[in-house]
Amino acid sequence: MRCKSCLSKCRRCMVQVAIVVYIGLIIFALFNYRSHCIETMPNTLIEMSKLDNSGEGKCRLDFDTLGGAQVDIFGEPSEQSILEANPHVQKGGSWRPDDCKPWQRVAIIIPYRDRMHHLLILLRRLHPMLKLQKVDYRVFVVEQAGNDKFNRGKLMNVGFLEALRFGQFDCLVFQDVDLLPEDNRNLYMCDSYARHLASAIDEMRYHVMYYNYAGGVIAMNKHNFRKVNGYSNSYWGWGNEDDDFSARIMEAGLLLTRPPPHIGRFKMVRHTKATRSESGNELFLGWRERWRRDGLNDPVGMNYTVQTVREFPLYTSIMVDIGQPPPSMDVLMTDKSKDLSLWWFFKYYFP
Ligand code: UDP
Ligand code: BGC
Ligand code: MN
Repeated sequence: MRCKSCLSKCRRCMVQVAIVVYIGLIIFALFNYRSHCIETMPNTLIEMSKLDNSGEGKCRLDFDTLGGAQVDIFGEPSEQSILEANPHVQKGGSWRPDDCKPWQRVAIIIPYRDRMHHLLILLRRLHPMLKLQKVDYRVFVVEQAGNDKFNRGKLMNVGFLEALRFGQFDCLVFQDVDLLPEDNRNLYMCDSYARHLASAIDEMRYHVMYYNYAGGVIAMNKHNFRKVNGYSNSYWGWGNEDDDFSARIMEAGLLLTRPPPHIGRFKMVRHTKATRSESGNELFLGWRERWRRDGLNDPVGMNYTVQTVREFPLYTSIMVDIGQPPPSMDVLMTDKSKDLSLWWFFKYYFP
């Protein structure tokens, strides 16, 4: 008798625990609802405009024939061999289709220093792919002069402003020098959000490293790049500048769109990994307080001197002196009381 009531008590207790866990999960899911990153197929980038007949006369792309490509991350291609294989490329690393109207004018911005080997491997891959995609494009290599810490974000901002001096580009693709797209269907074009093209990198076992990851290769139209105030100029050394950029995108209410992983595949040319700058995470904790003034619109942070602009056969080179990191990073830090919490930080990387 006693044992029977004991059993039913136990059962009731288990049901109650199950209900509490279930409600807990629902509440957790509600607060962790992730919706600002979505997958979209590349063909939507050109088919959407067709709805209003603006596609007339535009270049036709047959996605079934584009497909995957053989990507070689080894070998040392010479400039001459790339030129011979790509006779379409015009001075300054540009091209535009002449038998149809291209969908977009695209500037490829590559932040660069001392990686000629990677650059040649990338150019060997990009030029034929962009022609297949019938993009009106020009490749810009934005090189940081001197030996101070590398500042990827500031170079992107400089690349944006300097590229627009060359023409009215609709779309900017911010591209690391060592990442090679493996699929010709991964259109180097913009949508009306922010498009993270490198959605599946081999180094990350062809997965997005984390939900909010926006590094590697990202395409954005000029209106949206201005809306997020470009990249922060404050990250000197490796790490976090792409996270800061991703947070701006989210804060500005833009979606981060990605091609599905079988199309967003990239190979990274192997190189030794840098270690994170010691101020990286700390700076990132203050992004929300800083982002509206630290970026494209900051006259102090955007102080730079273009040393040379040269139109080489395969790319346009912009050599730029972007100054030095401040002697103490404290001047870049915000009022600590306004920093985001560690909980926010944790949720950003592990949503
Ligand atoms: N970069 C460069 N020279 C450097 C450091 C970085 O050209 O000394 C550029 C290059 O475009 C590179 C990007 O910045 O792909 C990101 O740096 P890195 O490849 O070291 O970072 P990862 O994403 O591989 O950790
Ligand atoms: C860094 C990013 C980097 C990513 C992938 C993150 O921890 O903050 O800057 O792109 O790792 O390597
Ligand atoms: Mn790399």
